[in-house]
Amino acid sequence: MNHFELRDGELHCEGVPLSRIAASVGTPVYVYSAATLRRHFNVFRDALRSHPQIGEPLVAYAVKANSNVQVLKVLAAEGAGADTVSEGEVRRALAAGVPADKIVFSGVGKTRREIAFALATGVAEINVESEPEVKLIAEVAAELGVKAKIAFRVNPDVSAGGHAKISTGKAENKFGVSFAEAARLYANASNHAHLEPIGVACHIGSQITDLAPMEAAFRKMRGLVESLRAEGLTVERLDLGGGLGVPYFNQPEPPTPADFAAMVARVVDGLDVQLAFEPGRVIAANAGILLAEVIHVHERPEGRRFLVLDAAMNDLIRPAMYDAYHDIRPVKPRGSETAVYDVVGPVCETGDTFTRDRPLPVLAGGDLIAFMSAGAYGSTMASEYNTRPLVPEVLVDGDKFAVIRARPTYDEMLAREMSAEWV
Ligand code: LLP
Repeated sequence: MNHFELRDGELHCEGVPLSRIAASVGTPVYVYSAATLRRHFNVFRDALRSHPQIGEPLVAYAVKANSNVQVLKVLAAEGAGADTVSEGEVRRALAAGVPADKIVFSGVGKTRREIAFALATGVAEINVESEPEVKLIAEVAAELGVKAKIAFRVNPDVSAGGHAKISTGKAENKFGVSFAEAARLYANASNHAHLEPIGVACHIGSQITDLAPMEAAFRKMRGLVESLRAEGLTVERLDLGGGLGVPYFNQPEPPTPADFAAMVARVVDGLDVQLAFEPGRVIAANAGILLAEVIHVHERPEGRRFLVLDAAMNDLIRPAMYDAYHDIRPVKPRGSETAVYDVVGPVCETGDTFTRDRPLPVLAGGDLIAFMSAGAYGSTMASEYNTRPLVPEVLVDGDKFAVIRARPTYDEMLAREMSAEWV
């Protein structure tokens, strides 16, 4: 459930009509619902908490999905931790008030500087993705005179389905270590003066709509916890990553958080381990839309009808990058007549196409439309390609709204560039 609904003939975000936001901030603009963020976080955590086998999980929201500090603050106030993949994301989580002991630091290529920063911050767990990385963490921890809490990210070699660009759990992908490596590295690390292995982690992909591959991966992870313990090693935490899908337009229905939690409870029954999760999309996707204006409708004699928007691939790259389908809704629908459109942006590439042959209510220049389910991996993947100002963000809470990232002016954009004196 989300809080984008038609009221009096106009799409609203909670109590705010979207046309009011467009009039005050301009388009394109991302609009987020605080109530939906809170609701999704609580539905996910409560589903897990309802199983005594799971206990109190660490729900570390995957910051990469939507990293605006105000969004993080809304989630932190509900008790969310943060799954981060860069020093920048750790800094965002801290700025939002996420306590360091709820921050997980993941990523395949952490730099020495980032590791030092994470250790100085005292993050809950650094997820180690490779043998060279364990060495680097040990070295940095020794220099700082601290003991690094690490978890080994294991690649369970399970195919999660979904788009190849966001599938991470096969052995051919760059993520994590094998089960054999994990056992050896865990044992070595537990004898190291500056390493404290606390657990194991996995994440097999994103937008997963079938629980079976997740269950297969989680069962393998349970087996690993048991075999490490059988060697006399301490394993306190099992981090099961993120990946649960959301409903996109015309795509397979994902399992619910309740189905997911019931599956997890079955897998971990009797294991007695602290569980961590790293959900991103399932929290943020349906909490946000991209609001855009139709510039004009261009009908070609060959028969194609292009709906040209003021939003483009630089604002929402998912359709171009992953062939993703976002539902497109008119903000003020005018009756039941429909037409078939190719929906495109102004960027100079054919890839700047949001969808082709999509039946939509009839639209005209000046109309507002909303790309639904755009709250995750929308603004965080936006760029200024074609020197289009970085798309702004608005947060709605009840009847209030605030700009939480301003659209830069052209002067600000140009001022970031410096002169090379010899040019
Ligand atoms: N944990 C790790 C280690 C991850 O790599 C990811 C996502 C997550 C958690 C969160 O996954 P989620 O619950 O959001 O599925 N840009 C792509 C998605 C990339 C996901 C990358 N990793 C898209 O727009 O579909």
